[in-house]
Amino acid sequence: MPKVEITTDKLNLDVKEGYALIDMCEDHDTSILFGCRDGACGACMIKVLEGADKISPMQDDEKDFLETMAALPNERLACQCRIYGDVKIAVSE
Ligand code: FES
Repeated sequence: MPKVEITTDKLNLDVKEGYALIDMCEDHDTSILFGCRDGACGACMIKVLEGADKISPMQDDEKDFLETMAALPNERLACQCRIYGDVKIAVSE
């Protein structure tokens, strides 16, 4: 079972493979914020510290949005991520 560590919240959670990160955050008290829930507002930006290859691949819309936001290479939109293995993430500042 994949493990998600959110360093910002000092949380370690077990999730089902393929589980949506947004659902995990809503099931627990995390500091990752959500707005549009559709990859269009940037409220849910996270940094992937470990396990980037264990998160669902970035689609063109997310890639385009992150480029517009001048995001770092390890940043993702949490509302667009599904978990397939152990990952360590933090809230982007
Ligand atoms: S909640 Fe708006 S981009 Fe993720």
